[in-house]
Amino acid sequence: MSATLDTVSLLADRINALEESSTLAMTKKARELAAQGHKVISLSVGEPDFKTPDHICEAAKKAIDDGFHGYSPVAGYPDLRKAIADKFKRDNNIDWKPENIVVSTGAKHSLANVIQVLINPGDEVVIFSPYWVSYSEMVKLAEGKSVVVDGSFENNFKVTPEQFEAAITDRTRIVMYASPNNPTGSIYSEAELRAIAAVVAKHENVFVLADEIYEYINFTPEGHFSIGSIPEIADRVITVNGVAKGYAMTGWRIGYIGAAKWIAEGVEKLQGQVTSGTNSIAQKAAVAAISGPLDASKEMTKAYQRRRDLVVKLLKEVPHFRVNVPEGAFYAFPDISYYYGKSDGTTTINNSDDFASWLLNTSYVSTVAGSGFGAPNCLRISTAASDESLAEAVQRIKDAVATLK
Ligand SMILES: Cc1ncc(COP(=O)(O)O)c(C=O)c1O
Repeated sequence: MSATLDTVSLLADRINALEESSTLAMTKKARELAAQGHKVISLSVGEPDFKTPDHICEAAKKAIDDGFHGYSPVAGYPDLRKAIADKFKRDNNIDWKPENIVVSTGAKHSLANVIQVLINPGDEVVIFSPYWVSYSEMVKLAEGKSVVVDGSFENNFKVTPEQFEAAITDRTRIVMYASPNNPTGSIYSEAELRAIAAVVAKHENVFVLADEIYEYINFTPEGHFSIGSIPEIADRVITVNGVAKGYAMTGWRIGYIGAAKWIAEGVEKLQGQVTSGTNSIAQKAAVAAISGPLDASKEMTKAYQRRRDLVVKLLKEVPHFRVNVPEGAFYAFPDISYYYGKSDGTTTINNSDDFASWLLNTSYVSTVAGSGFGAPNCLRISTAASDESLAEAVQRIKDAVATLK
């Protein structure tokens, strides 16, 4: 191709308008620095550092030997949809039949599908912020409008029912949030979700897209509560989940929804034209995961909780960081904004992007700026790493900020 060709203008507007995923961008940069021989501690990726449990891997090997090599049904194998429906009953008190379930290529795909299926151009999606980086971009792709509602640091980054209700207009079609939350680790309690549901109940065109991908990584004594279990709004709740985080299966790419039949059918129709049924071997592994024992998931959660305790304790010792206590997931999300406007003599830090890049370039600790998550004062630090790496990373952060004046 000619060197003078303006390739940007050849790309479709919808792609030019899209932000690159900030988590993937930082991870890429960290890999490059590591390849150059630097001792990088990578805390940017949202990925368990555990292996997929053996019984799940065995099920995948068996699926290969048993000849599951062909296309699967678009919405997923019947045994997987049944296992997911049973799981919704067992863990979430949600009554879905297999016909209400659609399996997709990761929870990310499930979320994008639902937004494509329910959003017309100009429709509004209320997003509880801080939010996972891809939500607003998925809405953009569907030509919808994100209405971001900020949860304050003081309220552990959670949105109140009053704030939510004030954001609703005639164009609102979806409210979406993740609990446990990425990036904050906050969890909406049963009482808080009942109050949110009471607002939804008053607005009959509003649907809830509940992202429960971190369900099992919950450190609260109360445990997980699903808004989809509230009967008054159950047919307007789309619950998204998957195997990536709870079973350490990020690369297997299995996510799913439980939703009213007409929504599930809409997603199946879309998927039938874009991806077809997801990977057959991974689906069989997911049956073993979802209907099997949860011992490994519980062990992993214990480790995440221990690391949460360690990282929160160490981060609180970093001068001028404001640190919330995550209740689940595997991230810490300190407010670092005290350092904005300060300089190490060479680089001036003006925002969270500057801070994350400077930290990676000078101290080889890879994190993600809060800006992409709707929280420009914060920095996301993944705690899915060994205790030693985490302690070393926070020490490097402490040493680095000591140079800022
Ligand atoms: C809040 C949230 N939702 C969804 C996903 C996507 O999960 P999956 O790997 O199943 O696509 C992630 C992954 O980081 C996430 O953090």
